[in-house]
Amino acid sequence: MTIWKNFPETIPRPAYRSLADLISDAIDNGDLRVGERLPTHRELAYQLDLSVQTISRAYDELIRRGLIEGQVGRGTFVSSGPAKSNWPFVPAGQDGQLVDLSILKPVTAPVHRERMSAAFAELSDTLADTSIFSFKPSNALQPFKRAALAWLARCGLSCAPDSIIMTNGATPAMTTALMTAANAGELVLTEAMCHHTLIPLARYMDLRLEGIPLDHEGIVPDELEKICRSKPVKSLYVMPSGLNPLARMMGSDRREALAALARKYDFTIIENDAWGPIQPDRPPPIAAFAPERTFYFTSFTKCLFPGLRHGYLVVPELLASAAANRHLVTDWVATPIMAEIASLFIENGTADELLSWQKAALGRRNAMVAKILDGIPFGASPNGMHIWLPLPGSWTEEAFVANARQKGVAVAPGSAFAISDTTANHSVRICLGGIQEEALARGVQLIARLYKSPPEPALLAF
Ligand SMILES: Cc1ncc(COP(=O)(O)O)c(C=O)c1O
Repeated sequence: MTIWKNFPETIPRPAYRSLADLISDAIDNGDLRVGERLPTHRELAYQLDLSVQTISRAYDELIRRGLIEGQVGRGTFVSSGPAKSNWPFVPAGQDGQLVDLSILKPVTAPVHRERMSAAFAELSDTLADTSIFSFKPSNALQPFKRAALAWLARCGLSCAPDSIIMTNGATPAMTTALMTAANAGELVLTEAMCHHTLIPLARYMDLRLEGIPLDHEGIVPDELEKICRSKPVKSLYVMPSGLNPLARMMGSDRREALAALARKYDFTIIENDAWGPIQPDRPPPIAAFAPERTFYFTSFTKCLFPGLRHGYLVVPELLASAAANRHLVTDWVATPIMAEIASLFIENGTADELLSWQKAALGRRNAMVAKILDGIPFGASPNGMHIWLPLPGSWTEEAFVANARQKGVAVAPGSAFAISDTTANHSVRICLGGIQEEALARGVQLIARLYKSPPEPALLAF
């Protein structure tokens, strides 16, 4: 077993964690394979000149991470393969000709460039000194709180100005919320098929992530309660409006039920509302039912403008300082010039205009795709930016994605969103924005033909 040869003579303390990391890396890079037996505690302690207790703690840590398992009377075995790095979208620069339905982007048109140019023109005269010369959040961003409150009110949330942290989009908001809500080793629950960046983020933060079974409205409260009864839950990460990747909408009663469970079992909620604004009729956010324990965030990149990396994180009052400190050390301050543009858009009506435009564009695209897929069952949410296509039993996800790709269309495999192999859903996610309508139609027509064809492995020779 090569990893023991690579074990350094001195390792950073605590030794158990360094050993666990080393074994975890060996699993990731394939030096240790699923099913391989690890040395006994005593054997390894002897080989590495460490105490048996240190080896036991390292193995316990790896069991906790779900990477190895002990089998009574047989020993300890690698139980999980390399960490998945299969991002659902196609990396930049690959396949210039591809109809890329793998990436989530809003629809864009010349109107977006026109509105951005107008904002630049206006701001070139009026840009505040604080937006160019200051990087202290209280100085640079205070003037934009009014716009933030107005936008959050459109999202169904009224809150105190001090509970808002402005962020460079949803991603830093999510990191800040998770850092505030849970510590290493604690349990965070989420949808069994979830927003994919949560999976590596939880791994980097050493959080335990567990998926909750879903129905047509997302998280099933009874399933959540079953878990809460059996072990301490620190936080629940949830995307009630347009769930990525399943495209489901949670109704108002369900939102209220989750808020009630959070109170009963004393956990916090992290609510991702990155797409909420594009829904035609949306129930109030969960944060409106449990503001004292919900971290709520939304951003502009998905519902208005891909390049407008700006968002709002609303935090529970008693955790406002803790969250602000965590945001400071990870991102310091949202870029003030972005805050200028977003606030100008909100206050001069451009944000409402572009939101209505986006809703109409996505509404049209959803209708067009439903027509092309006529007779094929698939999941969608109102004005959703993507659909979810369960595959016929005969196709594997891998073969379907590879065949589509070979024919010039990229779609994301469902497995990229699964918390564990057992939650995989045998489906693909198809995004509707980001490309021209005509290319989308071509891509979905090809997907429909492939769906109806007998499965074939992708051709290897071309
Ligand atoms: C569910 C969800 N939330 C948030 C984001 C990222 O948002 P932002 O670009 O504002 O960081 C994504 C990106 O695809 C997403 O799928």
